[in-house]
Formats: sequence, structure tokens, C-alpha cells
Amino acid sequence: MKFVIPRGRLMENSMLLLKATGIYIDIYDERKLMFGENGNEIILPRARDVPVYTEYVGDIGVCGTDSLVESGIDLFAPLSLNFGKCRLSILAPEGYDMDDLDGTDIATKHPVITERYLNSSGIRANIISLNGSLELAPETGIADAIVDIVQTGETMRKNHLVEIRKIMDIQATLVVNRVSQKTKYDEINKFIEIAGEMDGNRKLCEKYTGRY
Ligand code: PRP
Repeated sequence: MKFVIPRGRLMENSMLLLKATGIYIDIYDERKLMFGENGNEIILPRARDVPVYTEYVGDIGVCGTDSLVESGIDLFAPLSLNFGKCRLSILAPEGYDMDDLDGTDIATKHPVITERYLNSSGIRANIISLNGSLELAPETGIADAIVDIVQTGETMRKNHLVEIRKIMDIQATLVVNRVSQKTKYDEINKFIEIAGEMDGNRKLCEKYTGRY
């Protein structure tokens, strides 16, 4: 099977989960992005590209629920995993609240979710797409607020920002290619079942494996 595992924050737990399900693939070189062993392959893109790689070449991937929603890609998401928990929120310098956002510039790595949320809240703001280190945007004046991930809140506090609204909770999720779901039915079903047990999420696992 082909596994799509994100480099970065979710990688360590994702590799542990693979290992717990009996899939051993040695990542022997940090700069190499594909590895294969015993008939399995592992592909290591950036977290936000996991849905794309899972759709085009992968069977099973791990990504944050934010990356899945942001991608708009139709993957089967059978199992919420017990790691990667954080939230996506609107952050701004002290003194701002939601009523102040109309007509402002908001920087984000999540333009799709941000636009949808602002539209549904009746806020008209200009969205600026950035790729990281978003906290720089208000500090340098290129944006008034940001929509960003908050985990411990440390980065936000160090950059004098406060959380004015949570948009969504985030956690790691298993994603499955819709074609593989049918053509590799047994292997995938078994993997989800074991991953669910290993992740301490047996109930969810049973709920979804019952669908096959
Ligand atoms: C994320 C996010 C914040 C930080 C929040 O960035 O964009 O900067 O983590 O974490 P905290 O609440 O625990 O401080 P990431 O490390 O993914 O880097 P990037 O924004 O540069 O991509």
C-alpha cells in the first residue's frame, strides 16, 4: 500500500501509528521523500499537500482536518486520530473584536476556510494568502488580523495577538483514496480497524468499518 505521511508536526505520531499497525518503513535519510519496504511505500509531502497526493497516488494518508477541508478534495475520512489537536482561529492585536473586521485585511494560510467563514458571518474583508509565519503580517502592517492555527497559544502571545474567534477545531485524520477504498477493500478495512484500536479510538473505528 502507499501511505502519504506529512512532514512536520504530524510526522512522528503518524509514523508511530504506522509502526503500531505493523507497517515498518525505515526513514533512513531526512532529505529523501519516498521510501519503500516489504511491498509498502511511503510518500512524505508537506502537510497541506497530503490530500492531493492521496487523491492522485496514495491509498491512505494522514492529515489535519484543516488541510482536508481547505483542499476541497473528496477523500474518505474514516477515522479521527488522537493527535494533532489544535484550532483555527481569528487572531488580532488587542482591542479588536469581530465587529471591527469589516473592510480589514486578513492574512492566512487557509484562504478557502477563511473566506467561507467570513462570508457566513457577513464580514467583508480582503484575504491575503501567505505560506507561513503569519504573525509577521499584523506586526509589519500588511494585514490587520490573521486566521491561523493555535496549539499552545505561545506564538500568538509572543507576537502580541489575541484570539477573537475560533473557526474550527482541528485534529489529525486518516484519509483514504476513494478508488483504493474499493479496489483494496480488505487491506484498507483491516488497516483502519487496527489503526483505530491502536489510536485508542475503537468506537469510531467500528462505526466506520461497518460501512464497508
Ligand atoms: C503554526 C501556526 C503558528 C504556530 C502556533 O505554525 O501557524 O505559527 O504553529 O502554535 P502554538 O500555538 O503552539 O504556538 P507552524 O509551526 O506550522 O509554522 P508556519 O506558520 O511557519 O508554517
